[in-house]
Order: sequence, then structure tokens, then C-alpha cells
Amino acid sequence: MTDSGQAIRGIGPEYLVAGRYRLRHKLGGGGMGAVWLARDTLLQRDVAVKQVTTTVGLDPDEARAVRERTMREGRNAAKLTHPHSIAMYDVALESGEPWLVMEYVPSRSLAQAMNIAETLPPIEVAQVGAQVADALAAAHHAGIVHRDIKPGNILVADRGRGLGTVKISDFGIARAKGDAADAADSVITGTPAYFAPEVARGKDPTEKSDVFSLGATLYTVVEGQPPFGIDTDSIALLHRVAKGEIRPPTQTGPLTEPLLHMLEPDPARRPTMAQARDELAAAALGPSGGVEQIMGQPIYSATGTVPAWASHGTPLQDSRRSIGSTMSGLPPARPAGSLDDARRPVQPLVWPTRAEPRTLRDKIVDSAPIAMSVMVSILVLAAVVAAIVLVIQP
Ligand SMILES: Nc1ncnc2c1ncn2[C@@H]1O[C@H](COP(=O)(O)OP(=O)(O)OP(=O)(O)O)[C@@H](O)[C@H]1O
Ligand SMILES: [Mg+2]
Repeated sequence: MTDSGQAIRGIGPEYLVAGRYRLRHKLGGGGMGAVWLARDTLLQRDVAVKQVTTTVGLDPDEARAVRERTMREGRNAAKLTHPHSIAMYDVALESGEPWLVMEYVPSRSLAQAMNIAETLPPIEVAQVGAQVADALAAAHHAGIVHRDIKPGNILVADRGRGLGTVKISDFGIARAKGDAADAADSVITGTPAYFAPEVARGKDPTEKSDVFSLGATLYTVVEGQPPFGIDTDSIALLHRVAKGEIRPPTQTGPLTEPLLHMLEPDPARRPTMAQARDELAAAALGPSGGVEQIMGQPIYSATGTVPAWASHGTPLQDSRRSIGSTMSGLPPARPAGSLDDARRPVQPLVWPTRAEPRTLRDKIVDSAPIAMSVMVSILVLAAVVAAIVLVIQP
């Protein structure tokens, strides 16, 4: 729904949705619709509400199909209860249009965090990734595919008791935003910069494409740009994604191997979401740490505090870097070549360890083999000379 569409229908602060949710102010707006902070007048609590699709202009059958699909996705998302997932409370119908009613978390998204810090440290991103992967593994277990994982859909609580808590939002919403008919097989909906290659080629999103999109999201916040780069021409970008050739990462440190695994062009070579979670947790904690040490915990920086980018006290910059927004109705790209043959862009990098200052003892130990060979050569030479002298003596 466009802003002008909402204005015509009088949607704004104080508007009462479905006789129950009173809109307060806009929290933000993405590719379609806006998210509002609202008051649930029945339960007397704050909620976030979002109209993700509109039936205006559709014929009655199409309108019914869109409405039913949105309600179905909302009900599916409502099945999921996880500490790292935004809870879905309700799907409300207002003038025949579906609105999603969600848990409200005063937060900033990773997309907003990237306007404060150009890039985020791998150690912090590994914790975010492990927690989100745990929520997504639970969703996959329940038969729910997210379809639109990206920095804008990962929220980090920026104040109060939950400060630093990570939650993934917008489950299944990309499908709700899709084109009217379920015959939308021929078009793709989601955020091209984070698509898995097979999705860019027109395949339906699966658990494995969620793994790729989470990998692409984490890559983006560490590297400062998505794995296939930024392009205002979404069709050109889609063609690059479909080839599966990501830019080799340079700043991912201990996250390099887990990310390259998640970003495998061929879905068959990618880890499951649960495996990805374990690999990300190992990158955050080292081999001795266990996943349970991270779950339900706030994000910590290397100094043991919640990072500044996650705090409401750190001002957001005005300019929003363009790192991709949700789109619908994209035509699939079908490049030549199969994804089975596509390989990782680089072999796992070997990270140089920092050189320690060298002592005199280290230098003596290092030169010992050379000294030894010189001595042996001298002894051999002496023996040869002695033998020659003995032989030639009358
Ligand atoms: N449940 C929520 N609680 C608090 N804030 C939220 C919630 N959901 C979304 N927001 C805020 O609203 C902003 C806009 O959300 P929205 O989902 O519309 O946009 P997006 O995910 O960035 O883009 P797109 O619509 O293209 O997917 C988010 O970045 C976040 O700051
Ligand atoms: Mg969103």
C-alpha cells in the first residue's frame, strides 16, 4: 500500500484498525506498507502493526486469494514461539484488508546499525547469526520458510531490560506481498541483494535458500556491502545473483568459513540452518564454547559490553545507505550453466597470525639447524682432508 493510498483512506495517527489497534506513529516503512507503533486497546499493550498487501484494484476472486494467503501466512508465523523471533499476535481485517499484528520491540535493525558503523565486527555478527539461525531452524522444523532474510528484518533491542537482544521479523511476508494469483510462479518476490542463486533463477524459496540469505545478510554487515554488490538496476543484480559468484570476502576473519559454507552456490552443498547455527556459534565462542552460551543472551562486543551501535543513545544518521528493499513481480534470470558446477569464489582463507616480538633465544633456536649443518660439513671436510693426507703420505 502506498503512502498516498493510505492518506486517501485516512490511515494515520489515532486511526483504529479492526476496532482494536490504535495507530500511534510510523516506526518505518520498507518496500511496501509501513510499520506502525499501535496500542492494543483490548489488552492495553503496545504492538507493531503492518499492512503488507492490498486488495485494492483486484477482482473479487483475486482479492479473496490474496486475503486468504496473507491470513494463512500470518497464522503460520503465529505458530512460532522463539526468544529470537518477533512474535506474531494476530492477523486483523480492516475494511477487508489484512494487517499483521506483532510483538513491539523498541529496536534498531542491522540496516540502521550500518548507518552508524560502516561495518560490524565479525565477533558480534557471529553471535547475531547464531541466534537468528536458531530461530530459523525452529521455523524450518515447523515447516515455515522465511523468504526475506535481510539486514532490515533483523532487529536488536536498543533500550530497557532487553537491550542487545536480537529478533528476526517479517516471517513469510514476502509471499504475502507476492502477486495476486498463486500463479506467481513466473515472478519472484523478496530482496534481490539477498536472494539465493536458485531463487534468482525462479525456483521457489526453501530452507536452503533461507540459509543463503542469512549468509548474505551477515556477509553484508561485516563487509559493508552485499555479496553480489549494490546495483540500482534490480534486473542486472538478479543476473549476477543467478550466476552465484560472490565477491570474495576480505574482512570476515573467523566468520569466513561458516559464511562461505552458507553462500555455496549449489543448495545441496550448503549446511542446514541448525548446522549453520553451530558453525556460527563456534566462530563466536571458539571450539570450547557451546551454542547454549549464546542463546537468549544480549550481543556482546570484544570488551564485554553491548555494542554502541545497538544502543538508543547512539544517534542514527539521517542518510539511509541503500542495501536493498523488498520487491515483487521480478522476472527470473536464467543464465547458462548449472549451479552444481559453480564453486566457491575463494578457498577458505588462512588468516595470518600476529607476529610476536622475537627474543635472542628465538633467533638462536631458529638458526640452530643451519649452524648444525655447517658444523657437520666442516667435520666431513676435515675427515676427507685427513684421509687424503694419510693416503698420499709416503
Ligand atoms: N516488530 C517491530 N517492533 C519494532 N519495530 C519494528 C518492528 N517491525 C519493524 N520495525 C521497524 O520498522 C522498520 C521498517 O520495517 P519494514 O519491515 O517495513 O521495513 P524493512 O524490513 O526495512 O523493508 P521491507 O518492507 O522492504 O521488507 C524496521 O526497520 C524496524 O526499524
Ligand atoms: Mg521488515
